Amino acid sequence: MTDARLAPIGVFDSGVGGLSVLDEIRRLLPNESLLYVADSGFAPYGERGTPYIEQRCAAIADFLVGAGAKTIVIACNTATAALAPALRERIAVPVVAIEPAVKPAAGASRSGVVGVLATQQTLASERFTRLVGAHAAGVEIVSEACPDLVSLVERGVTSGIEAESMVAAHVARLRERRADTIVLGCTHFHFLRGLVEKAAGPDVRVIDPGHAVALEVRRRLAARELLSDQPRNGMDRIWTTGDVAAGNVVIGKLWPWPRELAPLPAAYCMPPAA
Ligand code: DGL
Repeated sequence: MTDARLAPIGVFDSGVGGLSVLDEIRRLLPNESLLYVADSGFAPYGERGTPYIEQRCAAIADFLVGAGAKTIVIACNTATAALAPALRERIAVPVVAIEPAVKPAAGASRSGVVGVLATQQTLASERFTRLVGAHAAGVEIVSEACPDLVSLVERGVTSGIEAESMVAAHVARLRERRADTIVLGCTHFHFLRGLVEKAAGPDVRVIDPGHAVALEVRRRLAARELLSDQPRNGMDRIWTTGDVAAGNVVIGKLWPWPRELAPLPAAYCMPPAA
């Protein structure tokens, strides 16, 4: 009989942004085997409708469950907003989902203004409205949809003049409105954190929920006695729906660990009907 504790953790995102969450899980849970799907061929999700995102994420989650994942991590705020409850109903393993860290940001802000950098889909979602209503009452939320920053990171660009000026433009608009705390509400933006901090200045706190997600994964697995107690064997495995050669270069810049990269099998790459 196979030991369920040795099964891998499955993580996915619209593209390479979720590698930031994968990195936190890798550091916190070094015994765990990790699987990751980058849906780069269908990114960005941030400008798409819910049915499109639902269909892509359902296919990816089915693939990861089929590959033996003992838990699924939605490392994409946009996907969480679109389909976290539906995904929990669809698959039998626990689902851990990331969402913008509005609650700690509201607690940390002194000016009473919190800035959120996220995708259009996340910001327009009912889930985000509920999150703000529940945890940021009395705090003003100012937001920026940043599809340009998602594209930058998908190209592996995380430094240089182009990236700096694009980040600075978004941050300046949040600062003009007195935000003193900035939430990175899209996993791609973790890779631009240094530029956000530089543009915002030393008085602004930048909040990135990746580590909190890794802690939640550990908590859920521990509660089910599913944490691996043995050193993992083999490399982390990554699949992409984008070009594998280009993906290898970009992932190599963002993900410092040894890994195998392969194309996601064609059965899971069907373009969404909507
Ligand atoms: N990384 C994703 C997120 O956290 C979204 C990027 C996209 O637009 O696809 O929201």
